[in-house]
Amino acid sequence: MNSNSQSNRAGDPAGNPLDRVLVLELVRVTEAAAVAASKLIGRGDEKAADAAAVEAMRKAFDTLEIDGTVVIGEGERDEAPMLYIGEKVGGAPGTGPRIDIALDPLEGTTITAKAGPNSLAVLAASAQGCLLNAPDVYMDKLAVGPGYPDGIIDLAKSPSENVRAVAEAKGVDPSQIIVCVLDRPRHADLIAELRGLGCGVVLIGDGDVAGVIAVTDEDTTIDMYMGSGGAPEGVLAAAALRCVGGQFNGRLTFRNEDEKARARKWGIDDADFDRIYTRDELVKGDCIFAATGVTSGSLLDGVKYRRDGRMTTESVVMRASSKTVRWIRGEHQAK
Ligand code: FBP
Repeated sequence: MNSNSQSNRAGDPAGNPLDRVLVLELVRVTEAAAVAASKLIGRGDEKAADAAAVEAMRKAFDTLEIDGTVVIGEGERDEAPMLYIGEKVGGAPGTGPRIDIALDPLEGTTITAKAGPNSLAVLAASAQGCLLNAPDVYMDKLAVGPGYPDGIIDLAKSPSENVRAVAEAKGVDPSQIIVCVLDRPRHADLIAELRGLGCGVVLIGDGDVAGVIAVTDEDTTIDMYMGSGGAPEGVLAAAALRCVGGQFNGRLTFRNEDEKARARKWGIDDADFDRIYTRDELVKGDCIFAATGVTSGSLLDGVKYRRDGRMTTESVVMRASSKTVRWIRGEHQAK
């Protein structure tokens, strides 16, 4: 059996291992992680919330008929007991479709511990080799929603130049542009520059996967996302934008030699250390993006417990090849 027919056992034609059924199955995985983490919302314990999400997600993967490999996960094998980079997941090792997975069982550990908005259980899945194996370093990010000419944003240009370009294309003054930025001291100059243009700056405490995705939703009124955050979260956000449209630029940033060594270990050449990756260079080919809300936010409602012993979840699952976006409300028996 050649690798194509093997990987295609439950997959689409033309060697795409992402089965249509998998689109819905992956939601079970993010749901399980979100429900587990939700029990620790507001309990002030980030580690416990993360551990609960990781364990539940790991277990839920076993129910999927896939031969999965974690390419973005909880860290390296020596630092993460579960869902570490390189870990095999899925219930059909060696026989199921071979799929690479980027995951964050709890995106927004601090948010969850403090019961803030927009924490998510999130993952992206693709054929082997289609997701940039981003190490756990920072990434400069720049994003804009759908409907703009290709290349309208460019991380090589200044924030002001990017805002002006988007404003011109939108037909508004730069002061009408709303930019989402992580509220961090390292962004002081960026925020000052944006405010100097008169832009509205939406500062978020954490959770830049939802922050980036917010540019795709006109209800949020957010036009652009700017600033540095986790590189793994950058790949996850790029996967979502690949499904729903919108442009993304990301550039890895390294604070020391150790971080560069990590990048090399996961296949990133020195020549790419300053590279500006577009959305489609971070995530190639078909991909599926799935997320379930842990706490409520701009993207999704969080897990809610009802008095009758039931609970509800809200998830979104999208696929790049079909551009389908499904919003799924689940009702479950609370255990
Ligand atoms: P965690 O879920 O790992 O806590 O990440 C939350 C987050 O806000 C990400 O969304 C973001 O990319 C990153 O942290 C930013 O890192 P830092 O807090 O170091 O600025």
